[in-house]
Amino acid sequence: MRPPLVLGTYLMTLVLCLSSVLASPPEQLRAEAEETARLLAKLLQAGRLVIEHNQSLIDDPHRGDKGFTPDVFELQLREQFRTRTGIDLTTIADKSPTFAVPPLARELLPALIEASKEVVRDAQVVINQRGIGYKNFIPATYGSQAAARFSKRSHVQLKQTAVQPRNPKNEPDEYESSVLRWLAGRPNSEAYVSELTDSGKNLRVMMPIYYIRECLACHGEPKGEWDISGYPKEGAHEGDLAGAISVRIPLELK
Ligand code: HEC
Repeated sequence: MRPPLVLGTYLMTLVLCLSSVLASPPEQLRAEAEETARLLAKLLQAGRLVIEHNQSLIDDPHRGDKGFTPDVFELQLREQFRTRTGIDLTTIADKSPTFAVPPLARELLPALIEASKEVVRDAQVVINQRGIGYKNFIPATYGSQAAARFSKRSHVQLKQTAVQPRNPKNEPDEYESSVLRWLAGRPNSEAYVSELTDSGKNLRVMMPIYYIRECLACHGEPKGEWDISGYPKEGAHEGDLAGAISVRIPLELK
């Protein structure tokens, strides 16, 4: 049995989890890493949706204090994640391990929630500013920041990426580029791509994101025209591939 683990020591936890699963057969190791990657991507996506649902509140120039605190955000995030995965994050720590929530995910999901709340906490001054409408606190900026914060503290890399990203930090690597190109040529689907790379050293999962109508004010037509966030529009259409959430989990420790 692993000892109980304290939040904030999840780097240590990651080592423990990985070493415990390294003893398992490779297929199980891969399956657990894949499920962990899928849930991390779903959680980042859930956070993006929560920001989207609160966008008009965040952008309301007439209100100062919006009440969109890190705790309010967290409640909505847990609810959104539960709706999308059936998993209640408030109870995963208590239950005995099940395949649905592998040990690695039990440690990493709370770490991503923490990183996400910190992003909302740091944005409070901006969010609560009166007299300003658009504040550049949108799903994509939230997602880029939460993923970066989480990845910095973890062996697992989480990021948003796109073929031609607006944010240079979201630039795809070679693997991500090839998967994005492959996804772009296929019909819109809920499916994700999962592969072992680097001679089996890394598991990589990419979950596609597609444009919906609400995205087109910034990413749509006319191509090249400036949007409200200060970038040229991509000329995209509803249903086009916008990008992906990309997760890389090392299966071996060096
Ligand atoms: C208000 C304008 C605006 C809207 C609306 C908007 N985006 Fe973006 N999008 C941006 C900006 C700005 C960035 C760069 C964010 C950053 O700095 O990381 C971005 C980045 C992204 C990225 C990450 C890759 C990159 O370019 O860096 C994806 C994926 C994305 N947007 C998808 C969407 C989707 C899907 C929607 C609709 C659900 C949407 N966006 C709605 C402005 C917008």
